[in-house]
Amino acid sequence: MKPAPEIDIGRLQKEIAELALISESPPPVVTRVLFSEADLKARARVKDICRQARLAVREDAVGNIFARWEGTDKAAAAIATGSHIDAIPNAGQYDGVVGVLGGIEAVRALQRAGFQPRRAIELIVFTAEEPTRFGLGCLGSRLLAGTLPPEKTAALRDAEGRDLDFWRRQAGLGGSLDSVRLNAGAYAGFLELHIEQGPVLERENIAIGIVEKIAAPSSLRLRLTGVGGHAGTVLMPERRDALLAGAEIALAVEKAAVSSGSPDTVGTAGVFRVEPGAVNSVPSRAVLEIDVRDTNPATLNAALAQIEAAAAQICQKRGIGLELERINVDAPAMCDARLVELAVRVCADLGVSSRNMISRAYHDALFMARICPIAMLFIPCRGGVSHRPDEYAGPEQIQKGVLVLAEALRRLAE
Ligand code: GLV
Ligand code: MN
Ligand code: MN
Repeated sequence: MKPAPEIDIGRLQKEIAELALISESPPPVVTRVLFSEADLKARARVKDICRQARLAVREDAVGNIFARWEGTDKAAAAIATGSHIDAIPNAGQYDGVVGVLGGIEAVRALQRAGFQPRRAIELIVFTAEEPTRFGLGCLGSRLLAGTLPPEKTAALRDAEGRDLDFWRRQAGLGGSLDSVRLNAGAYAGFLELHIEQGPVLERENIAIGIVEKIAAPSSLRLRLTGVGGHAGTVLMPERRDALLAGAEIALAVEKAAVSSGSPDTVGTAGVFRVEPGAVNSVPSRAVLEIDVRDTNPATLNAALAQIEAAAAQICQKRGIGLELERINVDAPAMCDARLVELAVRVCADLGVSSRNMISRAYHDALFMARICPIAMLFIPCRGGVSHRPDEYAGPEQIQKGVLVLAEALRRLAE
């Protein structure tokens, strides 16, 4: 075996910490909503780091960033890696970022080792992996894979009613969204490095999780319309309180997930906006966004149907108007057996412990799987905590993840 690439973990940690300071919230909280000022600044910083690594940087019409290390064989499809740098409100510094900045460090380590790729290696920074602005996750990778129809893209609105074109203009992006789509075969493969966001690797003291399957995500948006009024004078039998209907629906989500018959079904009502939002006023309107996931599409679909039926019945009983929208219901993705095998071999050759596992979180790899073979490398994170400011992955864990990524990229690109 060739000498293992050497990872400059000090430099990488510094870059991760500096990127975390580009946030809409004070440290240690990271918030970078799609095309907010912080997101745009963070994107500019990452593009600079790519250029410093002598990568050729381009952006597509939705802002997916591609940083390419050209190979000697121009006819060979590139091998891709990468992840996202947008962050939900009240997030930490590692989700997505480890795969982006770690991907750049993997490339730099190969450059320092004097490696010259035959196939190009391309780092992708996907636009809006998080469902923050439009309530839809993996916006960039959905468009790359051609799974989001133009009419659905055009209908996207944020909480202020602004559409994607408005935000593209803010970001200085032009061009037709049709041009974002890539053909199957555009990449020879895609390998995403990410923190596990769950407790398995830490509990088992294993350095690398090699993902075999990504669970199927789905989400619903419910708009509830009741009747508002004075909290002192509208007597209880007269009430049509939108919040109370929403609260009952949230409990129905829990019930559907718990009783689905599959231990992998999870349901969360993570958005609950209430109007008018005054303590002395009966809530007249509520918006709920509900996230349901499963490894099994059959139990996922049954849970969704149960939640929708419960919502209709609760709203009817309470005299509440209901508008229900399925934002997304996606299929699970299987990782490519050959890429999984390669990752297992790389870990064994480097003397790094690994186990195969499923991903319960979704990732851009879910959509890249529609156009090329994919696999994912997970590293442990403290307490399995993610989507929180105290999310943490230690230098040793990150170093091993980047090392395995670099060596896998070397074998795939040579
Ligand atoms: C991705 O951030 C997810 O919610 O799984
Ligand atoms: Mn996330
Ligand atoms: Mn992520």
